[in-house]
Amino acid sequence: MNHDVRDLSLAGAGCLRIEWADRTMPVLQRIRERFASEKPLRGVRVAACLHVTTETGNLMRTLVAGGAEAAVCASNPLSTQDDVAAALVQEFGVPTFAIKGEDNDTYYRHINSALDTRPNVTMDDGADLVTTIFSTRPETVDQILGGTEETTTGVIRLKSMAANNVLKYPIIAVNDAQTKHMFDNRYGTGQSTVDGIVRATNLLMAGARFVVVGYGWCGRGIAMRARGLGARVVITEIDAVKAIEAVMDGYEVMPIAEAARIGDVFVTVTGNKNVIRREHFEIMKDGAIVANSGHFNVELDIPGLESLAVSQRDVRPFVREYRLADGRAIFLLGEGRLINLAAAEGHPAAVMDMSFANQALSVEYLVRKGKSLARKVYPVPQEIDEEIARLKLASMGMAIDVLTDEQREYLKSWQEGT
Ligand SMILES: NC(=O)c1ccc[n+]([C@@H]2O[C@H](COP(=O)([O-])OP(=O)(O)OC[C@H]3O[C@@H](n4cnc5c(N)ncnc54)[C@H](O)[C@@H]3O)[C@@H](O)[C@H]2O)c1
Repeated sequence: MNHDVRDLSLAGAGCLRIEWADRTMPVLQRIRERFASEKPLRGVRVAACLHVTTETGNLMRTLVAGGAEAAVCASNPLSTQDDVAAALVQEFGVPTFAIKGEDNDTYYRHINSALDTRPNVTMDDGADLVTTIFSTRPETVDQILGGTEETTTGVIRLKSMAANNVLKYPIIAVNDAQTKHMFDNRYGTGQSTVDGIVRATNLLMAGARFVVVGYGWCGRGIAMRARGLGARVVITEIDAVKAIEAVMDGYEVMPIAEAARIGDVFVTVTGNKNVIRREHFEIMKDGAIVANSGHFNVELDIPGLESLAVSQRDVRPFVREYRLADGRAIFLLGEGRLINLAAAEGHPAAVMDMSFANQALSVEYLVRKGKSLARKVYPVPQEIDEEIARLKLASMGMAIDVLTDEQREYLKSWQEGT
């Protein structure tokens, strides 16, 4: 079996961690059991470009249980867990192409290795498979039934492709499922981003001025968790509605040009470009810590920071010091890449359970629909979203109420109640 991972002898450790994650992924477990008996993905080739983590390990097992031939490559050069990559090859027979810290050329070579498996379904986290197929392998699109997309940034790109009529096969926007972004982006990114920053720096959060750039689903979660640890949280935004929400949630809101002067820690989660630029680095305090948890590191103007620095050195794992001409130091974490995956373990498995249940059921949906879908970005069908919420609640031992007939009628009527 073709593969490229750091060290196959890490497989045992990877298996233990995949198993540990599985304990808190009951929804995906239930799907895996059903897949194993029904084999809805029999003969389907799936290429996945995802963060190669323990949770992804369990998703791959689920696809294989459903009868798929699955291959996986990394969706970020720094997010691979090498023991998981080894376990996927050695224990689960999944062709895996991912090495933590791989350079750009290796990253794209790995994407191409996954595509060499001639997938019928692509599974993306940031649209790299789709982009590579459209730009370098357009002749292969005929064999592809459709794809799924895991993250906000990827969905934005794919919708823009659809609007420009260049999308060549249907995509299910897994990110947009309620049981994905309301939980994964908020609680998953929230907790794991703070975890990554603390692991990289051992910073005391209490009392720190913690600037969150972007108050979307991820930003809300990070702000909430940073506040929980006692940080004084500042929000910057470009959207007036999100900004007023942040104000009413009790945060200070100001432009980045002001926040740059006072922040001890900065985290970007906008999905946008150059939101912290050279002019902002120029006015930061000595010792300011800067991280990104958005999909791409272009959120930070790293070339701008490099051009300001008179010297650079690594001072701890994932911490690079940039010394400015006047002696101030600015610390960039994890090369500006998703800090929750670079310096911590990414989202806890319990939240990826819902995201990857959406992935598995969306692949099944694409296969069931065959070639009948248009070249559009589709939402996850509502029944899948609701089923995942129901299964998750049940796994937590919780029940909810059901509408009475009278209530159902009342909610449908317009004559009653005035
Ligand atoms: N680290 C992770 O594990 C992880 C998980 C999920 C999503 N993501 C990524 O995080 C990013 C944000 O995702 P989201 O779901 O929160 O998106 P979102 O659309 O809900 O929020 C983004 C917010 O950033 C704001 N914004 C845009 N430009 C800005 C600027 N210049 N200054 C300040 N605010 C600005 C927008 O108004 C919006 O409120 C995306 O790139 C997404 O792919 C990362």
